[in-house]
Amino acid sequence: DWTMASFKETKIQEIRDQVGDKKVICGLSGGVDSSVVAVLLHEAIGDQLTCVYVDHGLMRQGESEQVVSLFREHYHINLVHKDASDLFLGELAGVTDPEVKRKTIGKLFIDVFEEEARKVGGADFLAQGTLYPDVIESVSFTGGPSVTIKSHHNVGGLPDRMNMALVEPLRELFKDEVRALGRELGLPEVFVGRHPFPGPGLAIRIPGDITREKADILRKADAIYLEEIRNAGLYDTIWQAFAVLLPVKTVGVMGDGRTYDHVCALRAVTSTDGMTADYYPFPHDFLGRTATRIINEVRGINRVVYDVTSKPPGTIEWE
Ligand code: XMP
Repeated sequence: DWTMASFKETKIQEIRDQVGDKKVICGLSGGVDSSVVAVLLHEAIGDQLTCVYVDHGLMRQGESEQVVSLFREHYHINLVHKDASDLFLGELAGVTDPEVKRKTIGKLFIDVFEEEARKVGGADFLAQGTLYPDVIESVSFTGGPSVTIKSHHNVGGLPDRMNMALVEPLRELFKDEVRALGRELGLPEVFVGRHPFPGPGLAIRIPGDITREKADILRKADAIYLEEIRNAGLYDTIWQAFAVLLPVKTVGVMGDGRTYDHVCALRAVTSTDGMTADYYPFPHDFLGRTATRIINEVRGINRVVYDVTSKPPGTIEWE
């Protein structure tokens, strides 16, 4: 009979059989999927694994520090932390088209990852946290014609160029199963229970052109929103919640002055697999309190709106 404990043991054995005494490199993103892959691989092959964390400067507040401290200091996993934010933000300057953003980030990600992998020296395998829905959705939209809705940069590209064999232990799993496996592996709850975060990061939550300043503003608003959600005890009920910084400025009033600042949209959805989703019906007092905090505490935002679109017809992310 099938349990997560036996799945784990089976996967560990499969990884050992596949890899032998060769070296494996793994792209760590800080998300649940790659974290689970890293810890699973580490348990299977120990020091034969090196993780590379490419920091594009578009992560959530405090996330990079958390990743480094968990994997390097707690697990003692070989970890390369590459701060490439200047490169990414430089290339993204002036880019507004969502697909061009994704492709730009995807390409740079591969370049940087490849360079760091070369420095590590001669890995034969590449480990990836590809899930079942990634495999499906990057091929076609369920129930519709075969069109790519959004190109996911974490599927494809890298292995061909690097001439490496793939290790993808999560390919048959849905998100909730990945979380169960993470718990089985003893990963801390803040990692296991963390909402999904897209590979391109905050880039696709800043419609229009991206600047470091906008990313900083968004990070602050997003952190306040998530803190309020945790305080209200709603974090685990919600599949994904995040702030979006709109490329629209509106007029407001603060004290006896006029303001002219960005609009921030809040998004929260429930879902079981990310393929369909319903907007989360927050109580109005929650929304009011959160909006007030964001406007008072984040310079650069003077108006907050809540997104009530479900998927379909919307997508979860705004780009
Ligand atoms: P959408 O916006 O397509 O998102 O409804 C569905 C789920 O996928 C995540 N997402 C991505 N994940 N790379 C990723 O790794 C991407 O390019 C990407 N785009 C969207 C999104 O956050 C949601 O969980």
